[in-house]
Amino acid sequence: MGKSVTARLLVVDRDATQLAALDALLKGWGYATILANEAESGLAQVAARRPDCVIACSPTVNPEFCHTVRNQASTRLIPVIYLAPPQAEAAERLAALQSGASCALSQPLDEREFGAHLRGLLATRRVTSDLEDAENVVFALATAIEQKDSYTEGHGERVSIYAGKLAQKLGLPDEVRAAVETGGLLHDVGKIGCPDAILNKPGPLTRDEFEIIKRHPVQGWDICRHLSSLGDPVLNCIRNHHERLDGSGYPDGHAEDSIPTAVRLVTISDVFDALATARAYKPAFPTEHCFKILREESKRGWWDAELVEAFVEMMKENALDQPANRASLGGALLNSRRHAL
Ligand SMILES: [Fe+2]
Ligand SMILES: [Fe+2]
Repeated sequence: MGKSVTARLLVVDRDATQLAALDALLKGWGYATILANEAESGLAQVAARRPDCVIACSPTVNPEFCHTVRNQASTRLIPVIYLAPPQAEAAERLAALQSGASCALSQPLDEREFGAHLRGLLATRRVTSDLEDAENVVFALATAIEQKDSYTEGHGERVSIYAGKLAQKLGLPDEVRAAVETGGLLHDVGKIGCPDAILNKPGPLTRDEFEIIKRHPVQGWDICRHLSSLGDPVLNCIRNHHERLDGSGYPDGHAEDSIPTAVRLVTISDVFDALATARAYKPAFPTEHCFKILREESKRGWWDAELVEAFVEMMKENALDQPANRASLGGALLNSRRHAL
């Protein structure tokens, strides 16, 4: 929401009289309104119009409505005020709060209390809106970096998909899966600061050129670290995806337990994709050869051997050991992300 623009509020209520009363009240306070008379059309409006706040009236909506708003990437930061009917039990308001409502009030409304909550939530929304804009910029950068080098097109997306599927196979918590998906997508975003001539150089890099390339994890972390919405697990994937278990990687020389599982998943996925696709300096290797190299490098102490085996199984289970199936993966994730924000 722009700072000088009137806030847009979505009101969801199938009771026409009540909807009109809320509409008049909010317009009287200087807000613009969007009206919906069913939960379903309300959700569609949340996604399509991205209002600055949703006023959701029960029983037209139930607490599940708040859960849906809160769990979609494009709407998760939009505040929801849940208005419970006069006869509602306290348990319903509590359920709404637990489902992600920003506040839950009872009807008949105490207008001053309602107005105070609304102003507070809109003030927070202005901040989170800026955060979303910043996040949007980072994802735009991730797209730009893939387009900068035709060899790496779709690389971030494939790493994101492999690491996410591996987290799922290992039964890791949803937060870890989400972190490796985002971390995988953004892991090379720092390459935006590397000169094209070095990124696309056919043949081996000089020592100095390699030193420049080696800056990309810290540069990427530096770009992303101000986005509190990304969180440390994602930032670690960006900063530490070139670490090795024996401490011989970069930039921090982390080893063993100081390399979190999420980072290990992104690293293995990243190494595989670099081996399995053509680069300016090498052809694409056959899948089995990539698996062999990963296993050899884990024996050398670089990667987690158990995770490498789980990775190989995951790729086979998902038919991703077939190059044709991998080729069709690029493109969709970043596009959906871009449109979602
Ligand atoms: Fe990298
Ligand atoms: Fe990479």
